[in-house]
Amino acid sequence: MQTITTVAALTAAITEAKKDNKTIGLVPTMGALHEGHLSLIHKARQQNDLVVVSVFVNPIQFNNQEDLAKYPRTVEADCEKLAAAGADIAFVPSVEEMYPEPVNTVYHFGPIEEVMEGPRRPGHFSGVAVVVRKLFDLTQPNRAYFGEKDYQQIAIIRNLLEQIKYPIELVPCPIVRADDGLALSSRNMRLSPEARAVAPTIYATLQQAVEMSEVEDIESVHDFVIDTLSSFQEVNGLDERLKFEPEYFEIVDDTTLQPIAKWEDAKGVVGCIAVWLDGVRLIDMVRFR
Ligand code: PAJ
Repeated sequence: MQTITTVAALTAAITEAKKDNKTIGLVPTMGALHEGHLSLIHKARQQNDLVVVSVFVNPIQFNNQEDLAKYPRTVEADCEKLAAAGADIAFVPSVEEMYPEPVNTVYHFGPIEEVMEGPRRPGHFSGVAVVVRKLFDLTQPNRAYFGEKDYQQIAIIRNLLEQIKYPIELVPCPIVRADDGLALSSRNMRLSPEARAVAPTIYATLQQAVEMSEVEDIESVHDFVIDTLSSFQEVNGLDERLKFEPEYFEIVDDTTLQPIAKWEDAKGVVGCIAVWLDGVRLIDMVRFR
């Protein structure tokens, strides 16, 4: 595996690969790699001649400076994992290399960014789009790999591809979970052991919600999830610090991401959640239909 830190060296490597008619798979990440990221890389490995993985903590997608400062950075360990997973190129640029000039571009996505993460993280998706577009330009991939853990992000990238009309196949990949059900996330390592122990309650509650959805209406299922999580700490007599604070749980059309009132209102239905626990913001999702 080649570790590349400059745009010039990446461009040279891509030019070479294109000359040889190699197909290119791109996996954008912010590092602190875990099995969730690695599943994207395995998929890319199966489908392409050249696998490029970017490791870049993108400052312009963080609306919260504390979150940016606390974001785990484990580049050496990341590169070892990438080599073992069969990546060909790890692209690990500095902020100055990616953004030599101040960024003025702003992307708009309409209704799909007006729900869930959108209003809670102003500027986030535009910042994601700027970096992903830049990575598309630099690597000219045939395919790009994104995880369904960030379900809304996939819809945003799909919309971005429609806007810029690049012939890139977007490949969504299923959520990888710990054995106890918690969706793997780089942020999980910031949880105290006690918080980590209760965190699987999020997915357990979502699974109960899916069962409930066979017989209950959307409002009841929604309220069940919010109430179960909000009351969990008190009901179980746990320490104050182990309180779940749901920021939202939205049951939406899986394509438009707009909230629906009845299960029949969309062909595909997913539920997306953001919950604070122990000062860490966790997100997850499930499919209902
Ligand atoms: P990051 O959070 O590092 O995630 C990189 C990719 O890994 C994303 O597509 C994300 O959905 C996927 N991923 C994370 N955890 C996963 C899990 N448990 N199962 C399956 N896939 C998982 O998402 C970003 O970085 C950034 O916004 C980025 C796209 C790199 C732009 O900066």
